Amino acid sequence: MIVKTHNSLKKQLKSILLENKTIGFVPTMGALHKGHLSLMQQAVNENDVLVVSIFVNPTQFNNQDDLEKYPRTIEKDYALIKKEFNDAAILVYTPSVQDVYGENVHSKSYQYDGLEKVMEGANRPGHFDGVGTILEFLFKVVSPDKAYFGEKDFQQLQIVKKLVQKLKLNVKVIGCPIKREANGLAMSSRNERLSSHARHESQVIFQTLQRANDYLKNNSISSTINMVNNIFENLENFELEYFTINRERDLKPAIRKSKNTALRAFIVVHVEGVRLIDNLALDL
Ligand code: PAJ
Repeated sequence: MIVKTHNSLKKQLKSILLENKTIGFVPTMGALHKGHLSLMQQAVNENDVLVVSIFVNPTQFNNQDDLEKYPRTIEKDYALIKKEFNDAAILVYTPSVQDVYGENVHSKSYQYDGLEKVMEGANRPGHFDGVGTILEFLFKVVSPDKAYFGEKDFQQLQIVKKLVQKLKLNVKVIGCPIKREANGLAMSSRNERLSSHARHESQVIFQTLQRANDYLKNNSISSTINMVNNIFENLENFELEYFTINRERDLKPAIRKSKNTALRAFIVVHVEGVRLIDNLALDL
């Protein structure tokens, strides 16, 4: 069932809560693909009711062009959810900007103990304030038992865990693995904007992460970063925004390898004006 306002969503959820049913929540911005569906599948498996939100949140976009070009395919998205989970109890919340923000389309500001200072936080000013604002709103309306987030946006996942802890919300945040195309490209709503040629060529992003993982076994972190920079300097159609190796725990850049510290490689690349993001846990 589709609901378009937070008041009607709350009304629907009231009876569910009275029956003591558990709620699993998957927030999305739509243009759904198998990555989103895998989060929903896990939520359906682990809860009585699934709530999916589809909302292109304006306050988390630091680039007006990206916001305008973000694909909006709500009818198709809803049909896909129905087809995939036809007998599950599902509420799909598709609010307007007005329903979420009223007349005040602004972010609140959040401190995430430094998690917001690197990578996406450093390169997309205000992004994680926008993410915090929408998720605080959604968590309060939906009051889920569990909420599901992809490791595709690993920094976002860590930030959501911190948000929940700081706001003392009673929701368990669950991280889910990255779903990839057959060629390794991480699934993304933004892939829709690529030509089929670029979509094919973009397999180099995941291949490079895997190469970095192998190279790091016998080389230092700084020479691994140099190796990756060299790969992209030689690729005409790709512009590397960043490649970095950071600690999973606090997302600080890693200085040296240590068996006891989990590290992850993070990459952002621009292809045909589309910003693609990916990451890989490194086995040292
Ligand atoms: P969106 O980009 O639509 O992603 C919704 C969720 O799907 C996020 O948790 C994201 O990490 C996950 N996801 C996307 N691609 C994935 C893939 N290939 N494999 C696994 N999971 C994947 O992230 C957002 O929306 C927004 O910031 C949101 C949290 C909804 C707040 O507006």
